[in-house]
Amino acid sequence: MKNAIVALVAAGIALTGTAADAQQPVKIKFSHVVAEATPKGQGALKFKQLAEERLPGRVVVEVYPNSQLFGDAKEMEALLLGDVQIIAPSLSKFDKFTKKLQVFDLPFLFDDVEAIDRFQRSPIGQDLLKSLASKGYTGLAYWHNGMKELSANKPLALPADAKGLKFRIQASNVLEEQFKALGANPQKMAFAEVYQALQTGVVDGQENTWSNIYSQKFHEVQKYIAETNHGVIDYMAVANTKFWSGLPADMRAVLEQCMAEATKFGNDLAASINAADKKRIVDSGRSQIIALTKAQLAEWRKAMTPVYKKFEGEIGKDVIDAALKANTTS
Ligand code: LMR
Repeated sequence: MKNAIVALVAAGIALTGTAADAQQPVKIKFSHVVAEATPKGQGALKFKQLAEERLPGRVVVEVYPNSQLFGDAKEMEALLLGDVQIIAPSLSKFDKFTKKLQVFDLPFLFDDVEAIDRFQRSPIGQDLLKSLASKGYTGLAYWHNGMKELSANKPLALPADAKGLKFRIQASNVLEEQFKALGANPQKMAFAEVYQALQTGVVDGQENTWSNIYSQKFHEVQKYIAETNHGVIDYMAVANTKFWSGLPADMRAVLEQCMAEATKFGNDLAASINAADKKRIVDSGRSQIIALTKAQLAEWRKAMTPVYKKFEGEIGKDVIDAALKANTTS
């Protein structure tokens, strides 16, 4: 009798266990390197909110901002290993995996974020989004941040002013050549290390968007920010391919819709977040913003654009031409 009760209880536990297992929600860890108040930070939180609202009890999204879980190179590895399921690195950080995405790093290629958006929506842009799936990164969407400015502790009005200075760059060969073309010394470095490197003088300057400069407090350790708008920081939200393709089809469809809506949400906010952060930097009085004249900007363009030729072979002339074409609306 006693044995029978034990057996029944054990069966009960086993049954409960099975039922509980069947109800275990799918956990999506979404890791990124920026602050929550940035376009990417806001997009990630929106994705979490929508996914958990629409798939209650079936999906849990944990967002880890600020390199809390993994920094730049580590998050790319962690995604492949399945330690996180979604990341959204800047397009510059895919260098190791595809050469074509380097197009986004070419200086002065895009006139503005609208042009970038047109290129990303074009057939070539969409092919690039899907091009990494076989390498383990399923491209879900492009996310905007915005145009890059150039900061340093000396005013950078003309390219010659950057000569001999050390600049932190993202892990991108195009960006490396861009600074070499100025006679400057580029240093690849993870985003999480930049503030300290600027503060201690390991590097003299860096390039980034207003929202990244403000949220990381770079303006507190850089006396000048030249408004060059010479390049772009945008992202690709990617999922681990095995994880994403292994999801139940109905769940994946809902998550794709959540991703599309989170993308629109973040992209619609990007320009206003960057504008507000620029104003906060001005108001702080910590860093002086240098507005450049058309003639000065033309000098920067002239100094930087020779790098196109160096990367034309790797990127493909067709891709560069399609990107340039996106500058015109017709
Ligand atoms: C950087 O490393 O400067 C940026 O790519 C960080 C980011 O994710 O915006």
